[in-house]
Amino acid sequence: MSQQEFDVVVIGGGPAGYPAAIRAAQNGLRAACIDEWQNHDGSRRFGGTCLNAGCIPSKALLESSELYHRAASEFESHGISVGKLGIDIATMQSRKAGIVEQLTNGIAALLKSNGVTALQGHGRLLPGGRVEFTDAEGAKETISAKHVILASGSVPIELPMAPFDGKNIVDSQDALEFTAVPKRLGVIGAGVVGLELGSVWQRLGAEVIILEALDDFLLMADAQIAEEAGRQFKRQGLDIRLGAKMTGAKASKTGVSVSYTADTGKHTLEVDKLIVCVGRRAFTSELLADDSGVAVDEHGFIQVDENCRSTVAQVWAVGDVVRGPMLAHKGTEEGIMVADLIAGKAGEVNYGVIPSVIYTAPEIAWVGKTEAEVKASGVAYKIGTFSFAANGRAQAMEQTAGFVKVIAAEDDDELLGVHILGPVAGELIAEAVLAMEFSASTEDLQRTIHAHPTLAEAIHEAALVADKRAIHAINR
Ligand code: FAD
Ligand code: NAI
Repeated sequence: MSQQEFDVVVIGGGPAGYPAAIRAAQNGLRAACIDEWQNHDGSRRFGGTCLNAGCIPSKALLESSELYHRAASEFESHGISVGKLGIDIATMQSRKAGIVEQLTNGIAALLKSNGVTALQGHGRLLPGGRVEFTDAEGAKETISAKHVILASGSVPIELPMAPFDGKNIVDSQDALEFTAVPKRLGVIGAGVVGLELGSVWQRLGAEVIILEALDDFLLMADAQIAEEAGRQFKRQGLDIRLGAKMTGAKASKTGVSVSYTADTGKHTLEVDKLIVCVGRRAFTSELLADDSGVAVDEHGFIQVDENCRSTVAQVWAVGDVVRGPMLAHKGTEEGIMVADLIAGKAGEVNYGVIPSVIYTAPEIAWVGKTEAEVKASGVAYKIGTFSFAANGRAQAMEQTAGFVKVIAAEDDDELLGVHILGPVAGELIAEAVLAMEFSASTEDLQRTIHAHPTLAEAIHEAALVADKRAIHAINR
């Protein structure tokens, strides 16, 4: 086979890699995207963790389980009766699989229609602008590339005392594939995966016990939000045990026996299934030839500068495989930035305004700094909070838990952080992200007209509260 030549070869077809390849092609560059993702059923699909085993399937299950939960707990107050409520897990799972299939097919179609050469198989960076491509049948080919973008993503961290067996002790991917609701579900790690997937199976009837090693709950979120979220989750029945350090997990035919220590002593927990979700690590296995010249830092991330350029000038790295939050949209922005920089265009990522969303009910979303971070920075600040209980739309939706918290600089009123616990917080946060992208002030939010009745009015009111000008709250 004659050697293929490209301007840009992207290794990894997840949300960091495929947009980079598409943007490179849009910029008139000859682009290829290599991806080796293979699902448990053997199917090969673009989209990476996000589409195949992360963002999308988890949100599909969160939606199904939330509908079930609301039908069981809220319909009655609306005067709706539905007879005997049931859930067919097989149907729920096939709906999820259908969404994943549709979206991953969509990525393949987008690559094609943008003129990107899509290669399914393994990519390995060689020195001197070359990539070794191994196809599904094992045939090897060397491809030459003026620029290479590494976007190989991340994988779940496995704990030696609780190795994954794919059946009883599982990672997040297998936890999306349960074929029945576990009676008792153990979760190690009260992070994003633990809360989202714990919520899914708890809403469907599982007793869910989450063991978290740290004494604090949701350290990455604003403390006030985390405290109220913890209260809400407890009310829902999630049993979150803080300061609980797992010492071992043993699977048997009937389930898993988990041992842990807490300040109350040694404990054993018997569960049907155990999800271990204690974070993810950068995935660089078989990615770099020994003499590639690309450096990896002490945490296993590919070392890059602020423009995502690696230690080799023509090699870039984006997404979960580099420093920063492991979020799909963060990787996408990095991929697009790099494809633009390669084409000689302007590009940058505003790392200060990357939103985070946890898709529980209520949802948790934030952008910018937490109050603790602002305090630590020494900047004088003011705060406005507004509860969804005082918001008409939230009342109509019967989703009044939570609040909006706006933090702004005391001197020039610039927004420093916006934190939301509440219904569709993940959608609402977009307004705050846009505002902060444009260095808006609380006055800008105050003067922006918000439709009535909407949940977004809670952001408007929180901004007004910051200046003690709220109409629908007591200004203290
Ligand atoms: P990945 O999506 O991991 O893609 C990397 C791709 O590269 C994979 O297809 C992999 O097979 C391929 N690859 C690796 N090495 C090679 C190689 N040498 N040759 C060829 N191909 C290779 N983030 C959000 O923003 N929102 C969410 O709601 C959200 N939910 C999540 C839920 C779960 C359960 C999980 C696990 C994660 C979730 N995430 C979410 C995180 C999100 O999935 C990741 O941040 C995102 O997928 C990272 O994108 P990436 O392109 O860097 O890597
Ligand atoms: P995480 O970093 O969110 O949470 C891991 C939790 O496990 C932490 O609270 C940590 O203190 C705890 N922990 C670590 N070791 C432990 C141990 N030995 N015993 C008990 N607890 C322990 O990681 P998670 O949930 O695995 O998610 C991985 C990544 O995927 C996240 O960083 C996130 O960025 C991404 N993700 C994003 C989602 C979203 O944006 N909605 C959804 C799911 C995942």
